[in-house]
Amino acid sequence: MMAKYDEPLLNEIEEEEEKEFLEGIERKELNIPNLSEREVMRHFIHLSQMNYGIDTGFYPLGSCTMKYNMKLLEKVARNDKLNFVHPLQDETTIQGCLEIMYKLEKMLCEITGMDAFSLQPCAGAHGEFTGMLITRAYFEKKGEGDIRKEVIVPDSAHGTNPASAKMAGFEVVEIASKEGRVDIDALRHALSEETAAFMLTNPNTLGIFEKDILEIAKEVKKVGALLYYDGANLNAIMGKTTPAKMGFDIVHLNLHKTFGTPHGGGGPGAGPVGVKAYLEEFLPVPRVVERNGKFMLDYDRPNSIGKVSLFYGNFAVLLKAYAYIMYKGKELENVAERAVLNSNYLMEKLRNAGCEIPFYGRRMHEFVVSLANLKKRGIRAMDVAKRLLDYGFHPPTVYFPLIVEEAFMIEPTEEESKETLDAFAEAMEKIMHEDEETLKNAPHNMPVKRVDEAKAAKDMILTWKDLKKV
Ligand SMILES: Cc1ncc(COP(=O)(O)O)c(C=O)c1O
Repeated sequence: MMAKYDEPLLNEIEEEEEKEFLEGIERKELNIPNLSEREVMRHFIHLSQMNYGIDTGFYPLGSCTMKYNMKLLEKVARNDKLNFVHPLQDETTIQGCLEIMYKLEKMLCEITGMDAFSLQPCAGAHGEFTGMLITRAYFEKKGEGDIRKEVIVPDSAHGTNPASAKMAGFEVVEIASKEGRVDIDALRHALSEETAAFMLTNPNTLGIFEKDILEIAKEVKKVGALLYYDGANLNAIMGKTTPAKMGFDIVHLNLHKTFGTPHGGGGPGAGPVGVKAYLEEFLPVPRVVERNGKFMLDYDRPNSIGKVSLFYGNFAVLLKAYAYIMYKGKELENVAERAVLNSNYLMEKLRNAGCEIPFYGRRMHEFVVSLANLKKRGIRAMDVAKRLLDYGFHPPTVYFPLIVEEAFMIEPTEEESKETLDAFAEAMEKIMHEDEETLKNAPHNMPVKRVDEAKAAKDMILTWKDLKKV
């Protein structure tokens, strides 16, 4: 038997060691601001007032779906009973969390028509990458891993699509669009027994619905390839149709756009991946399953691509999506209707104000304007974007998609009122008639003027000390 150790002596030794250790690393002087609470409070409130957010105004970032979401969702995500759960807790003690994940997967299946979902990916691009790994695993199991080397994307694709395919080891083949849609002849020409998948978002990044989607699906299936749905634009069709009806095999959704968490700002996201039944075996582990009324985490999936993130994904974003869907219920389809109505209303207002709409026609949840005609006066889309700040609006997405010159990509979302849309159109009309000098030097009323865009993103001022130097 071990001799009973001398506890007081042990404590003394530990204390001595700790003291020595601390003396080694302790700094005598710390260069931190010596400020009163009042000063600190005013500093941070001032910074927050300099910021522009969805809670302060219209934020029509095309492709990013910056919609105003109910604060109730944040309250749900901050619920202590859910927040203090640890991901390493035993399954039996987290039945509520597992049930929410299980039910959310089922809801997403219903909304998309897919047969199974994994909630693990933490962003849209992460979902795409996961989808591409599933594609690879599927063809490897079929013995076609060495043959199916290519993934096709249209030239209107979001940049993350080709990047994800490449990261998963595929060669990317880009096809040109025709009148803003997939050119079926170009697609037929690109498809072969080497094609692993065709990646598409519908509506596409111009906000145009790919009306020939059933024919596209037929062509893709003819060569034995998979059809991948970038579901970042689901806000436009939710409750009206499903990717499954269109013939898609794999989808990812951006919960941080469509379901209760705003996109942008680099905040946490969730990009769940859904598949048809024949691809379920490849989904990441663990899967949340129900057995005899109990929820559990199932790791026993030999053909799974494995884990794609820590633990089970971004649980707070999943919670908000769950609460959002529960709250909206059948009204989800009104979201899509309203989003499409607002987009078409604003597009017509801007067209009447003199904006050019390439491939003019009805749009879905977003639309793209070309400001190329202002180039004759030496004015660029970026100048108009900066001037919008003076009028109190966050500018739309600029210079994307790449197939439109001087693009302004506008997504008003279902949340905005007619008054807000009218005010934005009025500001745009005024700006387009302003003189070159005013536009080139905009913004005039902002605390920060024109910045070096690259430096602003790479060299951020994040501390009090740095701010003092400016
Ligand atoms: C069409 C489309 N696909 C993919 C993505 C990528 O999503 P994430 O930014 O979450 O990676 C976006 C982002 O806005 C998108 O608009």
